[in-house]
Parts: sequence; structure tokens; C-alpha cells
Amino acid sequence: MESYIIDWFSLIFRWLHVITGIAWIGASFYFVWLDNSLENPPQWKKDKGIKGDLWSIHGGGIYEVAKYKLAPEQMPATLHWFKWEAYTTWLTGMILLSIIYYLGADAYLIDKQVADLTQFQAITIGLGFITFSWILYEALCSSPLGKNSTVIAVILALAAVAISYALAHLFSGRGAYIHFGAIIGTLMAGNVFRVIMPSQRALIAAIEKGEAPDPKWGAKAKLHSTHNTYLTLPLIFIMISSHYPMTYAHQFNWVILLVIVAITALARQYFVLEHKKIHKPSILFAAAAATLALAIAIAPKQIEVKTVAPEDKAQLVIDAQQIIAQRCSTCHSATPTDEVFTVAQAGVLLDTTAQMQQWAPRIKARTIDTHDMPFMNKTNMTADERMVIARWLSTLK
Ligand code: HEC
Repeated sequence: MESYIIDWFSLIFRWLHVITGIAWIGASFYFVWLDNSLENPPQWKKDKGIKGDLWSIHGGGIYEVAKYKLAPEQMPATLHWFKWEAYTTWLTGMILLSIIYYLGADAYLIDKQVADLTQFQAITIGLGFITFSWILYEALCSSPLGKNSTVIAVILALAAVAISYALAHLFSGRGAYIHFGAIIGTLMAGNVFRVIMPSQRALIAAIEKGEAPDPKWGAKAKLHSTHNTYLTLPLIFIMISSHYPMTYAHQFNWVILLVIVAITALARQYFVLEHKKIHKPSILFAAAAATLALAIAIAPKQIEVKTVAPEDKAQLVIDAQQIIAQRCSTCHSATPTDEVFTVAQAGVLLDTTAQMQQWAPRIKARTIDTHDMPFMNKTNMTADERMVIARWLSTLK
């Protein structure tokens, strides 16, 4: 019953998180595009202080957008701010993290083969990483180094390597990836909260007082929003990564994570330039080539299995079924016995040989190509047993 209720909370907050995330990223993509697509306005608009304008059509209506160099002659009665998209994405994300990975730490976050942590230790480490990463990032950007965006980028890249390595050696693969994502999400929402919003408030206050805004805010806001621009696509990969064990369940999952973060940030660079009318398709090709190289580099090794003599086949099916009954059916059965996973996980039933055959390609992917199943090897499947499964799979071709 308990896991049933938790599943509902997880469903609702995941749904909210996706919606708010779309709103946040959608708005930020839209404004980046807007800013880079502004055109030189006619003189009469320039006289009003407008520095760029843009016309568009959407949903059956024509829109005229004008961006002011500083401020309109009169401040409008309603000015729309975009902040709740960011805050609610972060909040729902943290709630989701707590529901899945903290309440369910024993199932999802702790992998005893990586580090034998208690639930309390795992949660403290997880929250500690998120909090300290944010504090360090803030301190770094506010320090004199913050003036040099290249130096900052190099330091952040080195920190990312250290964090990815550390997380992968403390948590399950999924747990490590999601914490890396939570750190990125926290930096991004923190940038909105600590820098982008205050700089906008300072701008409005200065305009209302008829003063020139402090240029310090402009530079700060630019550095932080540049970071947000490049962090968006990596974060989206991490959000969906838990479906792809070839990444998080690999021996070098932390390197793979860093490589994918770099590739997705590179893809973003293409769009940033494209918006500025600089066409560099080579960047996209480079990202695609790097993806291909990664896919080849981490491709599962085909393990050698002895050819199975026809007369041994019947026994092999019996052996395989017995292993699956013992190691998999606790979670993948019409009547699961696992105390956490109380319904057949992912709808995969492995009670009969017909069902085993139906799922054979996925059994290979999750048990032989990666060792992602049994889940965290909770049922202690041995290497010999995997070999028996591999041999049985080889007879199905
Ligand atoms: C402790 C519980 C547990 C055990 C034991 C377990 N699984 Fe799973 N399995 C899960 C969970 C949770 C999911 C859903 C999440 C996911 O897909 O990673 C899942 C999903 C799957 C999927 C569907 C996802 C896909 O890639 O199509 C397959 C296939 C699978 N498991 C195979 C196996 C096999 C084979 C074994 C035994 C060698 C096994 N599982 C043992 C918990 C378990």
C-alpha cells in the first residue's frame, strides 16, 4: 500500500516538474531567440528609446515586440516577470528527488556494491553535495575570478569532473546522475533567484528614481545567464537518463556523464550562434560525431558463449528459467515478493518461458550487455548465472 501511495506522489510531482520545466526552458529559449532576432527599428521607434523590434505571427494573431534600450517613457501598469517557472521547477524537482531517491533511498540511491551507506548518510551526502556545490559556485562567481568568464568556465569544468567522479563512487548510477542534475538545476534556479531577479529589481528601482542602473548588475546577470544557457540541454539529458542503463550503469558512468554534458552543451552553442545569424553547422556535426564515437566506445562487448548442442537445449531452458525465477521474479512476476517493488516492474513479467522469450532482447540489454538487472543486483545474481542466461539467449536466434 505504502509504495502505491508513493507512486501516486511520484506521478503527480513528475507531471508538475515536466510542466514547469517546459514553461521555464520554453520561456528562456523564447527570450534568447527574441533577443537575437530583434531588428533595427524605424526612426520613430528609436526616438521613443526602442533599440530593437520584432514582428511575429502565432495562434492566429500578429505580435509586435519592442525592446527598450533602458526604459519606456512611462513604466507600464503591468510588467510580466518570469521567475515562478524557475522556482516551481526547482521545488517540484527537489520534491521528486526526495520522494524517489530519499524516501526510496534503499532501492534507488544506495548501491551496496558502490558504497555501503545508510539511508541517513546517503541523504546527507546528497543534500550536502547540492548545497555545497551551490555555495562554492556563488563564492566563485562573486570572487575576483568572476570577472574572467573563461577562467570561471575552466574551474567549473574541473569541479564537474570531481563531482561526477565522487557521486559515481558514492551512489547508484542513477542516483549519481540525478544528483549531478539536481546540482545543475540548483545553480540555474539559484542564478534566477540570486542574480537575475535582483538585477532586474535594481534596474526598475534605478529607472523609477531616474538614475542610471549600476553596471555591475548587468555584467553579473550576463555571466550567470550565459551559464544557464549552456546548462539547459545537459540537464534535460540527465532528466531522461534513468531510462538508459548503457549510460548510468556503465563502469565508467561518470566519464560518460561528463562527455554527454559536453556534447549537449556543444549542441546549445550551435543554436546560440545560429540565433546570432552565424551559421556553423560544423558544430552540430562535431556533436553528432562525438555521440557516435561515444556510442562505439561504450558498446557492450559481445561475450563468447559455447555453442549449445541440440540435446542440451531443453536442460538449458530449465536452468535459465530457474535462475530467472530466483533472481528476477521477486520483482517481475504476477505475484512479486520484493518488499519495495510490489507490482511487476515496467510491466515485465518473467513467470513463464513464453514471457522470458518475449522479453529476451531486453533481458539481454539489462542483464548481459549491462549488469543493470537484477536491480542493484539485489538478488545476488552470480557471473556464472549470467553466463547461463547468455547461453540460453544465444539459442533463441
Ligand atoms: C529488486 C527488484 C528487481 C529485480 C530483482 C529485477 N528487476 Fe528488472 N526492473 C526493476 C525495476 C524497478 C524496473 C523499472 C525501472 C527500469 O526500467 O530501470 C525494472 C525493469 C526491467 C525491465 C524493463 C525495462 C526495459 O529495459 O525494457 C527488464 C527487461 C528487466 N527489468 C529485466 C530484469 C531481469 C532479467 C531480472 C533478473 C536478472 C530483473 N529484471 C530483476 C526491478 C527489478
